[in-house]
Amino acid sequence: MAILITGGAGYIGTHAMVEFLEAGREVICVDNYSNSKPCALERVKKITGKNFKSYEVDLLDYDALEQVFKENKIDSCIHFAGLKAVGESCQKPLLYYHNNLTGTFNLCSLLSKYGAKKIVFSSSATVYGKPASVPITEDFPLSTTNPYGETKLMIERILKDIYASDSEWSVSILRYFNPIGAHKSGLIGEDPKGIPNNLLPYIAQVATGKRECLSIFGSDYNTHDGTGVRDYIHVVDLAKAHLKAIERAEKVTGVEYFNIGTGVGYSVLDIVKAYESATGAKVNYKIVDRRPGDIDECYANPEKAYNVLGWKAEYGIEDMCRDSYRWQTNNPDGYGEG
Ligand code: NAD
Ligand code: UD1
Repeated sequence: MAILITGGAGYIGTHAMVEFLEAGREVICVDNYSNSKPCALERVKKITGKNFKSYEVDLLDYDALEQVFKENKIDSCIHFAGLKAVGESCQKPLLYYHNNLTGTFNLCSLLSKYGAKKIVFSSSATVYGKPASVPITEDFPLSTTNPYGETKLMIERILKDIYASDSEWSVSILRYFNPIGAHKSGLIGEDPKGIPNNLLPYIAQVATGKRECLSIFGSDYNTHDGTGVRDYIHVVDLAKAHLKAIERAEKVTGVEYFNIGTGVGYSVLDIVKAYESATGAKVNYKIVDRRPGDIDECYANPEKAYNVLGWKAEYGIEDMCRDSYRWQTNNPDGYGEG
């Protein structure tokens, strides 16, 4: 029985595919390559020495997606596919609602029709909005500030309603904190389009000389050094959490929510220093105005994931920086033409 991996060619998806293949699981990738390239899957095959089926299919195309279910024995799904740029979601809300929600409707209808009622969903710490305190536990109030975050929260609620209507479902909602780093092979990693929005890809491009200077968004936050604090988690640790989540979904039904973070908060300046010390490269920076919508501090209490899934993050911040740098150095233009 195969696990369907939607968005498997993307940043987190490729890392998860590696972990699943190395654990001896059968996986089938579905991706429309709107934010990824097929060659990323070739790299997954190279790392693992294993083969798997992949389909260029858009989740919005119900018939094409159904064909994947007809051709394979699918038992469960890890649902990564979605658009994820916060700024773009504010400019193109309909695109985000249509892609992320309709894609999930089609997927869940087919998972139900073909009796594969187990799903692990990629949610985000963004559903906690501006948390009243840190560390954040799963029972904190939920709210969002942009269409991207809204799609995550809406999908969480839709999945809860699906379970309420049919108790055969197993729904595991993983709320990721800030995934960074890359596989130690240096063959797969994050490949942002154009100017990176997120901190680590930007730092990686400054450290390797592709960009001149990091702009640090604000130094007057209520944190130990005034710069924003986040819970950065190695993408390989995050990938492993999916394996634990699917193993549990294979045993129990219900809806469960898990914070997937390290439980440790680092400021932007902490990260700059860690990057320099882990790699020996210089990260030039300047302080600029705050980025609208950013919050002071966000880090997880990840105890539930440990207690229930038996998962905890293993890698430290230096590992994350070192692996990010290796990926960026080996692949200055990401996957290139792919
Ligand atoms: P990514 O963009 O690298 O991967 C998403 C993949 O989904 C891409 O390969 C893209 O081509 C594919 N896709 C998008 N829409 C599709 C559709 N309609 N049909 C088929 N394929 C489609 O992103 P990622 O960083 O790997 O994130 C994976 C998931 O985790 C996303 O749902 C994202 O919102 C969520 N998430 C990511 C982060 C992060 O910081 N990277 C944080 C929290 C949550
Ligand atoms: C952002 C998204 C969030 C999403 C997450 C993962 C926003 C407002 N939030 O979170 O919804 O789930 O990415 O994709 O976009 N920073 C700089 N300079 C930069 C880039 C970032 O100083 O060039 C700072 C930010 O102000 C923040 C920290 O670095 O304090 C981390 O930023 P980023 O990597 O964009 O992640 P988040 O803002 O946590």
